[in-house]
Amino acid sequence: MKDILQELEDRRADARLGGGQKRIDSQHSKGKLTARERIELLLDEDSFEEYDMFITHRCTDFGMPDQRPAGDGVITGWGTINGRMVYVYSQDFTVLGGSVSATHAQKICKIMDMAMQNGAPVIGLNDSGGARIQEGVDALAGYAEIFQRNIMASGVIPQISVIMGPCAGGAVYSPAITDFIFMVKDSSYMFVTGPDVVKTVTNEHVTAEELGGASTHTKKSSVADGAFENDVEALAEVRRLVDFLPLSNREKPPVRPFFDDVARVEDSLDTLVPANTNTPYDMKELIWKLADEGDFYEIQEDFAKNIITGFVRLEGQTVGVVANQPTVLAGCLDIDSSRKAARFVRFCDAFEIPILTLVDVPGFLPGTAQEYGGVIKHGAKLLFAYGEATVPKVTVITRKAYGGAYDVMASKHLRGDVNYAWPTAEIAVMGAKGAVEILYRSELGDPEKVAGRVADYEDRFANPFVAAERGFIDEVIQPKSTRKRVARAFASLRGKRLQNPWKKHDNIPL
Ligand code: HXC
Repeated sequence: MKDILQELEDRRADARLGGGQKRIDSQHSKGKLTARERIELLLDEDSFEEYDMFITHRCTDFGMPDQRPAGDGVITGWGTINGRMVYVYSQDFTVLGGSVSATHAQKICKIMDMAMQNGAPVIGLNDSGGARIQEGVDALAGYAEIFQRNIMASGVIPQISVIMGPCAGGAVYSPAITDFIFMVKDSSYMFVTGPDVVKTVTNEHVTAEELGGASTHTKKSSVADGAFENDVEALAEVRRLVDFLPLSNREKPPVRPFFDDVARVEDSLDTLVPANTNTPYDMKELIWKLADEGDFYEIQEDFAKNIITGFVRLEGQTVGVVANQPTVLAGCLDIDSSRKAARFVRFCDAFEIPILTLVDVPGFLPGTAQEYGGVIKHGAKLLFAYGEATVPKVTVITRKAYGGAYDVMASKHLRGDVNYAWPTAEIAVMGAKGAVEILYRSELGDPEKVAGRVADYEDRFANPFVAAERGFIDEVIQPKSTRKRVARAFASLRGKRLQNPWKKHDNIPL
C-alpha cells in the first residue's frame, strides 16, 4: 500500500513539474508565471480540484511516443473565487508550447461540459503555440469541439478568457466567442496570421506586439476588454470581475455586503453639468458617486471612450452601466461606441443584470467615414440590444438627449422602466442652433433674428418638461439625490417579469 501511495505522489510530482525546471525558468524569465502558479493566484487558497492530471496524448507520429508528458499541456479543474465556484483551464507553455492536441482539447471540453451542467463560469488562461503540429487534423478537430462548446455556453454561463502568452491562428476564435477577453501587456498577443505571413502577403512590416499586442486589441481592434500590467494584476482583476457576475443564467447576480448609505446625498452633482451646454464634464464622476463605495469595474476602458460601459453595485446588487461621455466626441454615438455598448447591454440582458443608462448625447456622429463604415447598421445594434432587453432598465438624462440617439439610449419607448431626467436635461430632435438653421433658413442673414429664434427654441425644448408632460420622463429629479432615486427604482423592479415573443432566435443586424 505504501508503495502505491508513494507512486501516486511521484506521479503527481512529475506532472506538477510540467515541461521541466529549465522550461519553467524560461517561462519566468519572460515575466510569465507558470500555469499552476496562475491557478493558485486566480482561485481561493486550497480550493483547486484538478482533473485529468495524468492524461497523455495518443499521437504516434514524429517521435511523439517518446515524449508523453502527464497532463498534456493544460491544467483543468474547478475551484472557488471568494467562495463561488468556477471552472478553469490553464495552458502550460512549458509542455510542448501549450499546444492543443486532441487530448488537451478533450480535457478543456470535459470541464466546459461540467460547467454547463453545474452552472458555473469557465475561465480560460491561454498560453499556447496553437494546434499541435504533430497531430494534424486531430488537433483541429479538438479546437472545433471547444468552439462548439463556447457557442453553446454563450449566454448560459459567463466565459472569460485571459491571454497570457501566444494565441494565434484559429486558436483566437475560442476566446473571441467568450464574453470577456483580457490580455497581459508585453507578454501576450493574438492574431489570425503572424508578422511573417503578413510580410509575405501584404509586404507590411509589423512586430507581433504591434500586430496583436494588448495595446492594439484594447485601443484599436476592441478584440480585448482590458489590458493589465502583468499576470498577477490580470488574475486579481478577473477575481474582481467574477464577484460582479452570476454563476449562470439560472441564477441572479450575487449580492455583496455594502457599507454605503443608499440615500447618500451628493451635493456636488448639482453643479456637475456646466452652465454652458457645450462645455464637457466627466460622466465618470457621476458613476463613481452613484456606485456603492465608488467601486466601478470598467469594460473596454480604452476603446470608443465616447461611451462608458462597466459594472457597479447598488445596495450590494450588480448593475451594468452604459453612459455617454461628453469629454470625448461630445458624447456622440458612432460605429465603435454603438458596437461596444450593444455587446455590453446584451451580456447584461443574458445574465439578468439590470442596466442603468446615463444619457448626455447630442446625436450620431456625422461624416462620410461613419456612413461608409455602416453606422446605420452598427447604430441599429445598440437600438436592438436595448429594445430586446427584458432586464430592469433605469435611465437618467443629465443633459442632451437629441434625435434618434434619444430614442436609442434606453428611452421610455424602448421599454425603459424608470426614466428620470435632471432639470438640466434637453430633450429635442436636435440642438437649438441646428433647428433654427433648418426652420428659418431665410432669416439666417439676420443675426438678431436668429438669436431670437434660438432663444425661443431653447425655451421650448431645452428642458425636460415637455417630455415629462407626455410621461416619457417619469420624474425630474435633483442631481444630488440620484443615487437614492436610482437605487429605489431598481429595488422596485426586482420582481420584474417581461418576456419577448417566442422565436428561434432574433436577427440582430450584424
Ligand atoms: C507543437 C509546439 C507548437 C505547436 C510550439 N511548440 N508551438 N509544438 N505544436 N504548435 C513547442 C516548440 O517546439 C518548443 O518545444 C516549445 O513549444 C516552445 O516553443 P518555442 O518556439 O521554443 O518558443 P518561443 O520562441 O517562445 O515561440 C513561441 C511560438 C512558436 C511563437 C508560439 O513556438 C511558434 O511559432 N509555434 C508555432 C505556432 C503555429 O504555427 N501554430 C499553429 C497555428 S495554426 P521544445 O521541446 O523546444 O520546448 C492553429 C490552427 C488552429 O493553431 C485551428 C483552429 C481552427
